[in-house]
Amino acid sequence: IWAVIVLFTPFLIHHASAAIAKLIPVIDRIDATFNEKYSNSSVTLVTEGPQGRRRFPDFTVSIQTFRPITDVVVRNGTNTPVFTTPNANIFLVKINTKITISTLNGRFSQPFLDTTVSLCDLMKNPQKYHVLALFLFEIRRYGPLPTCPVSANLYVFSNVSLKRMALPTFLSESNFFSEILAKIWTVIVLFTPCTIHTVSCLLSHKVIPILTRVDLQDNLKYLNSSVVVHNTPTETKVDLAITVKRPLPDPWINVIVWIDIASGTLQAPLHNQTFRFCDFLRNPGMSRIGQILHREVKRYGKIPTCPIALELYQYCGISTGAIRLPTFLPEANYIMHVFLGVGKEIVYDSRWHGTLKHLRCTGSMRC
Ligand SMILES: *[C@@H]1O[C@H](CO)[C@@H](O)[C@H](O)[C@H]1NC(C)=O
Ligand SMILES: *[C@@H]1O[C@H](CO)[C@@H](O)[C@H](O)[C@H]1NC(C)=O
Ligand SMILES: *[C@@H]1O[C@H](CO)[C@@H](O)[C@H](O)[C@H]1NC(C)=O
Ligand SMILES: *[C@@H]1O[C@H](CO)[C@@H](O)[C@H](O)[C@H]1NC(C)=O
Ligand SMILES: *[C@@H]1O[C@H](CO)[C@@H](O)[C@H](O)[C@H]1NC(C)=O
Repeated sequence: IWAVIVLFTPFLIHHASAAIAKLIPVIDRIDATFNEKYSNSSVTLVTEGPQGRRRFPDFTVSIQTFRPITDVVVRNGTNTPVFTTPNANIFLVKINTKITISTLNGRFSQPFLDTTVSLCDLMKNPQKYHVLALFLFEIRRYGPLPTCPVSANLYVFSNVSLKRMALPTFLSESNFFSEILAKIWTVIVLFTPCTIHTVSCLLSHKVIPILTRVDLQDNLKYLNSSVVVHNTPTETKVDLAITVKRPLPDPWINVIVWIDIASGTLQAPLHNQTFRFCDFLRNPGMSRIGQILHREVKRYGKIPTCPIALELYQYCGISTGAIRLPTFLPEANYIMHVFLGVGKEIVYDSRWHGTLKHLRCTGSMRC
């Protein structure tokens, strides 16, 4: 758990005019605790205005993160699955928000809102999260919101006032007390060769994949292929050849990546994405891992176009040394499973086994 923030807010019905009632939250107490390992932050209520009196209390949020917060997630648990999203995003940060409204007389037992969202998804698509978006839209008037991936930095929102926030008026029939509990937690594996988690430490090395073994199963009706792997201490070079012997109508491709984090057993895949191969060739950006592979492979030979011509596709000496993986990934074994299929038939089944290697950046080892 990275932070717990509780806002106690008695709602106020503010009569802007005789005809229009506007409902805004007024905060009278904030309890906030942060996990010191990840963050040195504070949320403070500012009740004193310049004139010594303030109708609507403001609050100041100051968050200093020590580690980058990104979409990519690795989990250190023996049997807990890794979260995955369609774009290989694994959640690092989720926010759980509960809003409980109680009348002045008695408390409703059920929170009227109880939702857990990924911080990055909230920031990318705030309109999906109605109540949270209302807060976010106010907060961002007071300072730039971080973008994802969130880098380790200091984020300050000074003297935030919620007096412009318009709550749904269906709440306005009575006075309420609300309690907002925002829980943010990160699940990170502690792994890097640096002992102190600082930005400069994270920038001082790069992570590249090294290949140790490739298992191939070709459907000889459609194609045959070969792979040769040469390793050096700082990269893997791969010779890859595929002879396509029969048309591949509308092929699909499935890429699954597993990283063996801690226990020696592979857990849920870190990445699992299936897409139409021709869509991918037109727009490699649709798959984050696919895009990385596409960028490297095309430097060493001709990438097929659709419809896929019957010929020999050959790539000599594809290097993994130029691949940049997120530097917080641990030195761990991985398996990348790439299937190519036509309808229900598997045409090409390849399993790429290897290790993620950390290399220090030096004058001759540029990062
Ligand atoms: C972080 O800690 C330092 C030293 O304790 C303090 O001066 C600073 O204000 C803190 N930063 C935040 C954002 O709370
Ligand atoms: C926030 O409010 C306090 C108290 O009124 C004031 O001293 C401070 O300058 C304000 N900060 C900013 C950044 O406006
Ligand atoms: C994973 O967490 C456990 C318990 O906190 C710890 O003992 C272990 O060292 C961690 N493993 C790694 C690789 O960080
Ligand atoms: C596929 O098989 C043919 C015939 O055996 C062979 O000439 C060709 O080199 C093979 N292609 C690959 C990529 O191994
Ligand atoms: C990958 O995702 C597909 C579709 O969501 C699912 O059917 C399949 O079991 C997943 N594979 C693995 C290895 O989890």
